[in-house]
Amino acid sequence: MRMDDQSNLVSETAAMQTGGSEEGRQQSASPRRARKQRLATPILHFLSTQAFASPFDVNMAVDAGFKVVIPHTNASLEHTSGLVQDAIFSRPVEYGCRTGLFIGGKDALLAVDMLAAAQAALVPPFQLSAFADPGGSFTTAAAMVALVEDVYRARTGRTLKGAHVAVFGATGVVGFASSIIAAQCGAKVTMASHIGVKALKPSVRAGRGRFGVDLEPVAAGRAGDKGHLVSQADIVLCAAAAGVRVLTREQLAKSRRLAVVADVNAVPPSGVEGVELFDRGRLLDGSGVASVGPLAIGDVKYKTQAALFRSMLSSRDTVMLDFTHAFAIARKLVRGRPANT
Ligand SMILES: NC(=O)c1ccc[n+]([C@@H]2O[C@H](COP(=O)([O-])OP(=O)(O)OC[C@H]3O[C@@H](n4cnc5c(N)ncnc54)[C@H](OP(=O)(O)O)[C@@H]3O)[C@@H](O)[C@H]2O)c1
Repeated sequence: MRMDDQSNLVSETAAMQTGGSEEGRQQSASPRRARKQRLATPILHFLSTQAFASPFDVNMAVDAGFKVVIPHTNASLEHTSGLVQDAIFSRPVEYGCRTGLFIGGKDALLAVDMLAAAQAALVPPFQLSAFADPGGSFTTAAAMVALVEDVYRARTGRTLKGAHVAVFGATGVVGFASSIIAAQCGAKVTMASHIGVKALKPSVRAGRGRFGVDLEPVAAGRAGDKGHLVSQADIVLCAAAAGVRVLTREQLAKSRRLAVVADVNAVPPSGVEGVELFDRGRLLDGSGVASVGPLAIGDVKYKTQAALFRSMLSSRDTVMLDFTHAFAIARKLVRGRPANT
């Protein structure tokens, strides 16, 4: 993707959030204010619910243009409002959105709650933009579903609407976010956990109550259960822990229906046997199943996260970014590139 295409994505993300065109906002902002905003050092407060702030996310933020990144570790929902107000009141209003908040950790629902708390804590005209991407899950899930949607369309001519999608590793942050995004695209999503359905209940409740989607939880720890689930699916998303083999060639080969399988795990062995790192629509040996690999996903994930960080810096108004915005960007990135079938 060329640099000017990336700038367009950044502007579009900002416009999508603030309900207007970037051009319109630039014209309406006073030149003095615009200059002050440009000169203000971009600072990112990194709220992590873990004992550390992910080095991956720190690097991404700095490479996208944040000059100062401050980790606040072991942060909780209760801390969010106070930290936001501490951050906004210390900077002149003219600095606009040069103060950012990134929400990391390993809990997708908590991150969404913290994002909502950050928005509620704002006191206009003081501004701040925020972006939730716990464990990189929102951008990773967005990239995986966008690539799968593209490969599935190329393979079958169909969209995700009505497609049966089975998600393995569904209790993880990536599995959860992938389930919600796919279901919001109209897919019938089954969430599979190797430890049983009880662990999935909070996700199913949140799916219905907060995101307006129905998710079906199933236990799939045993080989037979996994094989059965695969045989019912048009698409399999594997979002299990790094270095864990979840599905074998035999389990995939038994399915007459399966069209696409994606695996986010880049640490050997692969989560799905036969999936290779850079697959983007390659047919698995001796099957009609198209494969999407972890580094093809990682490439789109990286560009999506970078575009979202840059949109925080380029916007003149507050933006609040979650997996919805990540998916919109990932789709655009994916549609701009050819598949390697
Ligand atoms: N490609 C990329 O760009 C990219 C970016 C970020 C992350 N990732 C990868 O995405 C994957 C998911 O990340 P995450 O943070 O959500 O992972 P995670 O929390 O480490 O694990 C995800 C899920 O894997 C399942 N699992 C764990 N141990 C297992 C075992 N022994 N057998 C079968 N299933 C097991 C569990 O789900 P159930 O209990 O529901 O089975 C767990 O909740 C990881 O492989 C990570 O490396 C890739």
